[in-house]
Amino acid sequence: MNTTPQPLQAPSVPESGPLTQDQLKTLVGQAALQYVVRGELVGVGTGSTVNKFIDALATIKDQIKGAVSSSVASTERLLALGIPVFDSNEVERLAVYIDGADEIDGSGNMVKGGGAALTREKIVAAQSDKFVCIADESKLVQTLGKFPLPVEVIPMACGRIIRQFAALGGQGTIRLKDGQPLVTDNGQYLIDVTGLQIADPRAFEAEVSQWPGVVTVGVFAFQRAQVCLLGTSSGVKTLNF
Ligand code: A5P
Repeated sequence: MNTTPQPLQAPSVPESGPLTQDQLKTLVGQAALQYVVRGELVGVGTGSTVNKFIDALATIKDQIKGAVSSSVASTERLLALGIPVFDSNEVERLAVYIDGADEIDGSGNMVKGGGAALTREKIVAAQSDKFVCIADESKLVQTLGKFPLPVEVIPMACGRIIRQFAALGGQGTIRLKDGQPLVTDNGQYLIDVTGLQIADPRAFEAEVSQWPGVVTVGVFAFQRAQVCLLGTSSGVKTLNF
């Protein structure tokens, strides 16, 4: 993931051939500006697509109060571009939260957490009136479960939670970084679970969320998107759910 803030550049359309995934991300990041309520704070997610949005947000930074961020990485990028960042506890409601997804279905349910920021993402999404998802078209799926499902867990519960997923037909592994368990911004571990078909995202999220030791499951059904700006080869498609 590119973490260095870049000056905003319009995506250059190649003379032939489809737009690259990076260009699609730039397009949807810029398109999301139309949902930012001027004079207010905006909720900001995490990831390579959101990085494009943050770069675009910097061009209207004088028109907003600032941002509430969902990760250390996004906070650093926002601050580097001169956008004030507020603690979520200082703010009651946000009009809009802009974030990417690893998968989104036709009802706005998502899998998130590929960038390890799912817990803070769910927290900021929960205090926002509208979730606008920005994604390239590779993220649109019929049924959630193709992307390994991230689950943030208390380290001492990893073994049992992996066994509980096995009973549902999933294979869980602890996410590693440099050969060691990755530690999240909240000091916890992540389990990535493959082999699941999540037919009822709301029921799945409700069930897994109450397993002891689960901090956050990466299914966003209760905090689903109301809008998805989808980058496609023919431009940005707006899906309303
Ligand atoms: C971060 O934890 C995730 O939820 C991201 O929103 C998701 O992984 C999408 O990231 P990209 O925009 O980098 O694909």
